[in-house]
Amino acid sequence: MRHGVTISVISVAALLAAACGGPKEEAAKDETAAVETAKSDDAATMSADADRAPAPQAAIQFVAQIMGEPPLGLPPVSEPADNPTTAEKVRLGEILFNDARFSSTGEVSCATCHDATKAFTDGPLSVSVGVNGLTGTRNAPTVINSAYLTSQFWDGRRPTLEAQSKDPFLNPVEMNLANHDPILEIVRSDEAYGGLFQDAFGVTGAAVTIDHVAKAIAAFERVVVSGNSPFDRWHFAGEGGAISKAAERGFDVFMNDGRCVSCHTISQTHALFTDNKFHNLGIGFNKIEADTDRVVGHFLEIARTDQEVDEAVLGDAQMSEIGRFAVSREMQDIGQFKTMTLRNIAATAPYMHDGSLKTLRQVVEFYNTTISPLEDQNQAPNPFQSGGIRPLNLTEQQIDDLTAFLETLTSPEFEDAARASLAYQAQASGSE
Ligand code: HEC
Ligand code: HEC
Repeated sequence: MRHGVTISVISVAALLAAACGGPKEEAAKDETAAVETAKSDDAATMSADADRAPAPQAAIQFVAQIMGEPPLGLPPVSEPADNPTTAEKVRLGEILFNDARFSSTGEVSCATCHDATKAFTDGPLSVSVGVNGLTGTRNAPTVINSAYLTSQFWDGRRPTLEAQSKDPFLNPVEMNLANHDPILEIVRSDEAYGGLFQDAFGVTGAAVTIDHVAKAIAAFERVVVSGNSPFDRWHFAGEGGAISKAAERGFDVFMNDGRCVSCHTISQTHALFTDNKFHNLGIGFNKIEADTDRVVGHFLEIARTDQEVDEAVLGDAQMSEIGRFAVSREMQDIGQFKTMTLRNIAATAPYMHDGSLKTLRQVVEFYNTTISPLEDQNQAPNPFQSGGIRPLNLTEQQIDDLTAFLETLTSPEFEDAARASLAYQAQASGSE
């Protein structure tokens, strides 16, 4: 067993400069060389090189502990047997994640939609924007703590981070490559990448495959784990005063009257805030309500391969709404989406798979009263809606408290992102 390897992945901005060097290859190599990796028994935190970092948030840091102690409030990350996490893979993965050359326009990288300074989302966009300003159908979930998920995407259509990472490159509304060859051309010929793949996998040139790319990206994502929020300090470390009295009351609502914990689960020792299951809250169902048979029929005709499913659900707003059905092909799964984690939720507005709820308070009000948007219109409730979902009838005080509780789930690394998102939310609720 490797002992207490601690990695500080530092300065996303410096990495970005390294990865996107393009013609300035020499500079890119220098930048890459400057990205250091700490191996020590202590939780070494390295400071970003301020001179080099162009972005104000360059100091964003992840101190990810590989095979060491996970952050407070989180369990250890498990890794696939054929892709053990190493410092070299993580470093390579972060650079790949930030490389916009892997898109048809050379402008879109994974980080475009999963921006570290926005808690790995593209808020406040409701749905993501890929190449040429094309919009998808769904809100970008955060990549933070995706290492713990038992399936990826809102409908869980990919089982692993490795499998997930190959899709966005090819999706026409995301990075829009015809196939993975252009990526391989770059990573096989770019000198800086040559050294990085050699270090990470012991391969170089023509021996580099898309699976190496996927594994490195997944390894990077597995260290983007973030706990240690005020809630964690209060709940798991017994630090009185880490959260406000209102938030403490809000936690009680979360556990009891609000029944939130039945899906956004927490355990004795840690809290992932997701049951990794799929439920239908009625969000977005109005988009296919009148037309379900036709939409489902059309989907079954055009979406035979995994890649076709990916294109169908992100390319057509109605098809997006079939949810888990896209994977299971079971009628009762229409409109079911994955329970999202609530960690760093204050930083990732807007909310839900279609980004239709702008603020945390709106989400709580949704659970409290509307549940199905159809009920607003005095129409029949969504026939596919999950059992157990009904209006909660919380008091205004409970709504405030529950919202305050949700705001305590921000990890220290994402406080700036939360501040920005909460400012957006204040504005969005003011302009209603
Ligand atoms: C154009 C914006 C865009 C780009 C580019 C993009 N993503 Fe995403 N990402 C999304 C959206 C939207 C979803 C949700 C799609 C769905 O569920 O159908 C998503 C989902 C994910 C998830 C699943 C998270 C979860 O909670 O289920 C992961 C992991 C992820 N993306 C990683 C990546 C990686 C790695 C790349 C680059 C190879 C990438 N993304 C590129 C927008 C984007
Ligand atoms: C029956 C299971 C269930 C219960 C109970 C539940 N949720 Fe959810 N929650 C979900 C699912 C599923 C989604 C994603 C729904 C979608 O997009 O269609 C979600 C989404 C959310 C989101 C938005 C996540 C994001 O990243 O966009 C928030 C915030 C949230 N829930 C908070 C709560 C709160 C607060 C409660 C209690 C009042 C609660 N939930 C009760 C299943 C549940």
